Amino acid sequence: TIVPVILSGGSGTRLWPMSRPERPKQFLALTADETMLQLTAKRAVGAQFAPPIVVANAAHAEEVETQLAAIGSSPAAIILEPAGRNTAPAIALAALTASSGEDALLVMPSDHVIADVEAFHAAIARALPLVDDGWLVTFGIAPDAPETGYGWIQVGDPVVDGVHRVVRFVEKPPLDRAEAMLASGDHAWNGGIFLFRADRYLAALQIYAPDIVSSTKAAMDAARHDGVRVYPDAEAFAASPSESIDYAVMEKAERVAVAPVSMGWSDVGSWDALHAVSGRDADENSHRGEVLAIDTRNCLVQSDGARVSLVGVSDLIVVASGNDILIMPRGRSQEVKKLIEAMKRG
Ligand code: GDD
Ligand code: MG
Repeated sequence: TIVPVILSGGSGTRLWPMSRPERPKQFLALTADETMLQLTAKRAVGAQFAPPIVVANAAHAEEVETQLAAIGSSPAAIILEPAGRNTAPAIALAALTASSGEDALLVMPSDHVIADVEAFHAAIARALPLVDDGWLVTFGIAPDAPETGYGWIQVGDPVVDGVHRVVRFVEKPPLDRAEAMLASGDHAWNGGIFLFRADRYLAALQIYAPDIVSSTKAAMDAARHDGVRVYPDAEAFAASPSESIDYAVMEKAERVAVAPVSMGWSDVGSWDALHAVSGRDADENSHRGEVLAIDTRNCLVQSDGARVSLVGVSDLIVVASGNDILIMPRGRSQEVKKLIEAMKRG
């Protein structure tokens, strides 16, 4: 069986003001009535899947437990990090928690949209036979823009039908390189979803980032257990380098494979990205919350309380959350970063 590992430690600042440190993106119902975390958990249910291991920040213990209980999901463990050390250590904690090193881990971000779950499951089935041979498998998305925030994969010869050798893995390239890889026609985006055996991941980590293995092992040896909650030892975990799996392992490891898959994937990295994947009404507006719109087109409107009323506008993003209101034209949602920086400066 496959053990789903759900990474839920991100802070999702680009979806401010809905996403905030106390309640980041993965805990919000942005695309449906269920939250991103709940949709992620439901994506890995069925005969081939064991109960999931969730890795989250300790501040979100209640939120994770309540949200999973609400959809009838009983996690095998909820590992609660005292502070985030990025994804390579988070996945190591899960790998050390798996009941056997031979377990196949399906590592999933908790904040993505996958519209076609059947296509996702079919790609997993194609990749599964490779994991016992030590392959670290990623899922490749056909690129349509020179994204600098993603990992890029040069797709090589097939290992089996529908799963290819990775020639090169380049995490977050500069723009000129991303443009060249887009033009090449033989590259895919890394979808941020991984499939490998727990022991094979730890073995690769031992080669390329041994300090992450030693500190996460020490943190788990001294962990405190409280029901399904697991609290790694704070001091030992703090000693771990803070590195993503992409930089620590995927860029360097041998036997990395990619399963290209067309599954309606989006990492919902901005309000514009959310608009692109959301259901629309007849006027191409997508809205959640109490919204009244007259003669309004192509707008994304989200509110978690206030009633939002619009007349005669188009191509706007309007988000009302708590005491905050955000208004901007579509196409500029990357600039939320600038707002956050400006707010930090005060
Ligand atoms: N538990 C835990 N602890 N989870 C974490 C931590 C952490 O310290 N840091 C990040 N995560 C979770 C996030 O919540 C998210 O679900 C996932 O891990 C990936 O982290 P991101 O920070 O969102 O990574 P990224 O978007 O910069 O890049 C990754 O995803 C891209 C696709 O969306 C990489 O894998 C790229 O190569 C990939 O293209
Ligand atoms: Mg991300």
